[in-house]
Amino acid sequence: MELSAADRALLRALWKKLGSNVGVYATEALERMFLSFPFTKTYFPLLDLSPGSAQVKAHGQKVADALTLAVDHLDDLSNAFSALSDLHTCKLRVDPANFKLLGHCLLVTLARHYPGDFSPALQASLDKFLSHVIWALTSKYR
Ligand code: HEM
Repeated sequence: MELSAADRALLRALWKKLGSNVGVYATEALERMFLSFPFTKTYFPLLDLSPGSAQVKAHGQKVADALTLAVDHLDDLSNAFSALSDLHTCKLRVDPANFKLLGHCLLVTLARHYPGDFSPALQASLDKFLSHVIWALTSKYR
């Protein structure tokens, strides 16, 4: 579904509010995913995934930077995520079902930290945004 002008405005306003904390929230989302859906840990055999690990934090920052890139390239996600799609599909062979799990954990994390902002409209816009990100990340499967 297309991101409307209202979706984009909500997303940009949220990202402005998150400021330099996107990495903190992406890290929390990863930690939630590893705890709630432990089989996702099998994709990261080389990383120390214990809670508070510096490696999870570093990975969270990379995911955060990718999401920020996505917010800045809403109309060009396939190009912006071409290399990341190659990595996740051809190299890492991540089962596409897992992306929704991380997306879900990102939503839960943001709802927890921004309860006052997390209106149904913001949830719907974020959900649409994450669907676009996942569509671009999995494009090389198609
Ligand atoms: C919103 C969804 C996601 C985004 C934006 C994202 C983004 C990224 C980024 C930016 C990197 C680093 C690439 C690099 O170092 O060049 C990466 C690596 C990786 N991603 Fe994802 N990712 C997502 C979902 C997932 C999911 C669901 C899994 C598996 C359950 C996964 C598994 C991995 C693995 C195994 C690596 C390599 C880690 C390493 O050894 O350094 N990703 N991802």
